[in-house]
Amino acid sequence: MAALLSVFASAVLAAGEGEALAGACTACHGPEGRSVSGLPTLAGMDRRRFMDRMQAFRNGEGTIMNRIAPAYDEAQTAALADHFAALDRVDDDRRHAP
Ligand code: HEC
Repeated sequence: MAALLSVFASAVLAAGEGEALAGACTACHGPEGRSVSGLPTLAGMDRRRFMDRMQAFRNGEGTIMNRIAPAYDEAQTAALADHFAALDRVDDDRRHAP
């Protein structure tokens, strides 16, 4: 339990870290998590679902994410989850795309 609490504590402390780490996701998941390819959009993704998916990828699920997810520890994954959860979901914004 203490470990769990410290994960959340460091996620709060690392509010800006999620944004920095998210740069590594842009190539596939689009700028600000708004996918422009066939890959899933991350913007607005439920935090809990994000954490569950990342855990599944660490357990070997997926075709590509199983190689990416293990590079991030719990605190970094939580920071990424917070970052993407805080972004607006796309559909509206997409209409403004050129
Ligand atoms: C090289 C391309 C690539 C990069 C870079 C990448 N992803 Fe992914 N991502 C994928 C693919 C492909 C999937 C679909 C699952 C699979 O086959 O691995 C996916 C799926 C996901 C999902 C599940 C979405 C859903 O709705 O189920 C999450 C969460 C995710 N990626 C997070 C991230 C994060 C966070 C980063 C950056 C740290 C990242 N990805 C970087 C290719 C990528």
